[in-house]
Amino acid sequence: MEKIVSLCKRRGFIFQSSEIYGGLNGLWDYGPLGVELKRNLKNYWWQVIVHERDDVLGMDGSILTHPAVLKASGHVEGFSDPMIDCRTCKAHLRADQLVEKKGVKQCPNCGGKDLTAPRQFNLMFETRVGATTDESSIAYLRPETAQSIFVQFKNVLEVSRKKLPFGIAQIGKAFRNEINPRNFTFRSREFEQMELEYFCRPEQGMELLEYWKEERLRFYENIGIQRSKLHVLTVPDEERAFYSKGTYDIEYDFPFGRQELEGVAYRTDYDLSQHQKGSGKSLEYFDEETKQRFVPHVVEPSAGVDRTVLALICEAYSEDQAPDEKGKMETRMVLRLHPRMAPVKCGVFPLLKNNPQLVAKAKEILDLLRPHLVVFYDESGAIGRRYRRQDEIGTPFGVTVDFETLGERDAALRDTVTLRDRDSMKQERVAIPDLPTVLRDRLS
Ligand code: GAP
Repeated sequence: MEKIVSLCKRRGFIFQSSEIYGGLNGLWDYGPLGVELKRNLKNYWWQVIVHERDDVLGMDGSILTHPAVLKASGHVEGFSDPMIDCRTCKAHLRADQLVEKKGVKQCPNCGGKDLTAPRQFNLMFETRVGATTDESSIAYLRPETAQSIFVQFKNVLEVSRKKLPFGIAQIGKAFRNEINPRNFTFRSREFEQMELEYFCRPEQGMELLEYWKEERLRFYENIGIQRSKLHVLTVPDEERAFYSKGTYDIEYDFPFGRQELEGVAYRTDYDLSQHQKGSGKSLEYFDEETKQRFVPHVVEPSAGVDRTVLALICEAYSEDQAPDEKGKMETRMVLRLHPRMAPVKCGVFPLLKNNPQLVAKAKEILDLLRPHLVVFYDESGAIGRRYRRQDEIGTPFGVTVDFETLGERDAALRDTVTLRDRDSMKQERVAIPDLPTVLRDRLS
């Protein structure tokens, strides 16, 4: 993890938030490469979940949430973790983080055994809306994106006239005042979720739970996470929310252990029924064919953007041996990101920066490729060094403009370039006009 955290900072994937002021615990900023990686992930999720399907619509709800929504959903009363303080080192700990030695619970930081009794700590961030500061001005930063989907269910149904089963998807920020943020971005206080609420008839719930579990596993494989590092945990009855008839956690083998990436839960009609009760407005669905009126059930695949970005980086990080400029083997750090996820798709390099013809040709290629994919131009340093810099950030392809491109050695090679593959390091010659098609095919 240390190597990964250091690479993320050094190359501009992820920085500590407010770093120059000493940082704010559990908050992270994504740098120029991190934001591209994150966008690629969110765009692909949106493409697969919303654009490629007839039965899912998108929405984008507000972050500040009416307290009544979170009262009805149970968050105001029950969205809490048991917290314990260590009287020796004053650490605030989640009860499940205590270590147990010879049957005695201890503080994981100092080994202290003088611990307070557990008390419930609500994880929601409370704020005030408007100029007044009484009870009526309280609002919350949403702890999950799901609730605005439930609350807007009727509006979306009316405008779309969809028939069950259908889903509403949302990507957005969520906030939880985690007692102990840790493992880099894994447990943060501000993070993004990609959530789908897939509404159905009661009798379809269990079958759709299986369907969405499989779909989501396929998604992770399609973004480059090996199936062997993904695990499905069937959440045992006693740990499942009382209203859920089945929950799977999709877990990934992070360097710090096997941890949850996504939850896929069959939440029955709990959420819509609660909001129906809380608001006094009907959230029922009317089936034209059977003339039945009922509150739909829901299956929810809920994924974390930041956790998936972290999994992608962990999965892609590797070191191998590659020859340096003089042919001596050296350790190469390479992010083997799936081309679909890579922040930069192709590096463009003139062999020499002081040759105006090579530079002009490379810039021409840059202009040719830019409308199709994210490219990066680099003319400084030996070509091997430039390849290494791109390998380190996961750029899958590199295009080098050399003297053959200018037709100086063999007229047949005029206007061709070398195309280098990050993983195999193999190079081939490709005609410049073919580059957009060749690259687009390999990236899809
Ligand atoms: N609507 C259901 C829901 O929010 P959850 O299991 O609490 O369920 C879903 O959260 C996903 O959101 C998790 O699987 C994880 O990927 C992400 N997530 C939750 N808390 C997080 C945190 N503190 N930091 C980063 N990601 C988090």
